[in-house]
Amino acid sequence: MLKVIGWNSLEGIVKISGSKNAALPLIAASILIKWKTKLEWIPRIGDIFTFLEILESLWTKVNFVWNTLEIDTSILSLEKLDFEKIKRIRASVLLLSPCLQRFWKIVIPFPWGCNIWKRPIDWHLEGLKNIGYEVSLWVKSTIPTIDISGNLEEGEKTINAWFWVTTTENLLMANVLRKWKTIIKLSAIEPHVMNLVDFLRKAWADIQMRFDNEIIVNWVEELSNKINFEVVSDYIEAGTFMVIWALASKDYLDIENARINDLYSFIEKLKEVWVKVKNMWNDTLRVFRVNKIKATNIQTNIFPGFPTDLQSPFAVLLSQAEWESKIHEVLFEWRLSWLVELEKMKAKINILNPHEAEIIGPTLLRWATVTSWDLRAGVSMIIAGLVANWDTLITNVEYIERGYEDIVSKLKNVWANIEKIEEII
Ligand code: EPU
Repeated sequence: MLKVIGWNSLEGIVKISGSKNAALPLIAASILIKWKTKLEWIPRIGDIFTFLEILESLWTKVNFVWNTLEIDTSILSLEKLDFEKIKRIRASVLLLSPCLQRFWKIVIPFPWGCNIWKRPIDWHLEGLKNIGYEVSLWVKSTIPTIDISGNLEEGEKTINAWFWVTTTENLLMANVLRKWKTIIKLSAIEPHVMNLVDFLRKAWADIQMRFDNEIIVNWVEELSNKINFEVVSDYIEAGTFMVIWALASKDYLDIENARINDLYSFIEKLKEVWVKVKNMWNDTLRVFRVNKIKATNIQTNIFPGFPTDLQSPFAVLLSQAEWESKIHEVLFEWRLSWLVELEKMKAKINILNPHEAEIIGPTLLRWATVTSWDLRAGVSMIIAGLVANWDTLITNVEYIERGYEDIVSKLKNVWANIEKIEEII
C-alpha cells in the first residue's frame, strides 16, 4: 500500500526511464535473434521481470544488471513454458510470432493483464492465419487457450493491423523472414512500434514505412545473430510527470528525456488548459505550476493523437479545472471506470457511457483509501493524493510497479511525501 500526503511543493528534476511498451516487444524479438541480444535502458519494473521469467521458462539465458539486459536465445524449449505468468501480462501475446519462427507451433493461455475491460486479439490471429498458420482456440481445464501451428506460405500478402500496437508488432515479427513480401495495412506507428522497426532493421530486416500507415516487409534470408540496441525513453512516464509538476511543484520542475516530439498533442492540450511549459533543449522540458486551470475536452486517439495511457493522469488535472470538461476514451471500452476512485476523493464526475465521462471542477480533493484499477489509473491516484488534503492510501500498488520504475524514489527525490507501507488485512 502507498501512503501519499498532499499539499506538496515539489522541487528538482526527474529523469525519465526506458519505455515499458518499447522494451517488451524488443525482448520478444530477441527470440528471433538466435544468439545474443544486448538491450540498454531497460526499465526495472514488474512487467519486465515477469516477461523475463517467462523467457527463462523457455530456457533463454538472461542477465539483467542495472538497466542493461543480455539475452541468449541459442537454446530454446517449449517444454516448461510458464502458463501462470503468461496469463498475468497482456504483452505475452508478443511471444506468438517469434516462437512460431523458432518452433512452428505454440500453445499459450489467453493473456489477460491489466484491468481494462475488452481486449480481444482477433487481428493478431487473423494476420497469422492469413500467412498460413492454423489457429485454434479451446478451453483447457477452464483456461481459454490459443493453439497455433503450421508453415509460412510464400508470396505477396496484405494483412491488416487496424492501428493496434501489439498487433502491428506481432505481424512485423511474423513476416521479417517470410518469402516474399508482406504489406501491413493500417499499422500502428507509436514510438515503441518504431523502436521495434529500428531494432529489426539493425538486425538486417528489410522494412519500409509509407506515409499512410502502411509497412512493407520484404524477405531477408536471415537476421543477425547478435545485436546491441538502446530502448527509447518512456513518453507516457514523461506525460505523467508533466501533470504531476503542473499540479504539485513549488514553481517549476524539469523533466529530462521528456520525449517532447512524441508528446506533441498532449503538450498542446496542457497549454490549452493554461499549463506553461518551456523547451530547455536536449529533450528537457520545464513544466510550471499552474494555479488556474481551464476546462477542456479530450479525445484519446492513436499516435500522434492524445494517448489513451495519459487519459487518467489528465483527468486528475481536469478535476482541478474551472467548470466542465469531457473525456472521450475512444480506444478502450470501460477504461473510464477507474474514475469511481477519484469520486471517492470527492471529484465531481459523471460517467456517461463506457467511452465518455464529464468532470466538473475545481474540487478540493479529499483524502480517501483508494485502489489502482490498472497501471495508469493507479499512478493517477498518486497524483490525486499529491494534491489532496491529508493522507491518501492507495492499494493494489503492484499495478503501478508493473510500469513505473522507482516511482516512489523519483517522487521522494523532489520532496514528495510518499511511502510504501505494509497493508494490514
Ligand atoms: N483490439 C482488438 N483486436 C485486436 C487487438 C486490439 O479489437 O486484435 C482492440 C482492443 O479491444 C482494445 C484496443 O484494440 O480496445 C487496444 O488493444 P490492446 O489492448 O490489444 O492494445 P495493445 O496493443 O495490446 C498497447 C499498449 C497499451 C496501450 C495500447 C493502446 C503494449 C504492451 N501495450 O496495447 O499499454 O494502452 O497499446 O495504445 O504496448 C499501458 O501501458 O498501460 C497499456 C495498457
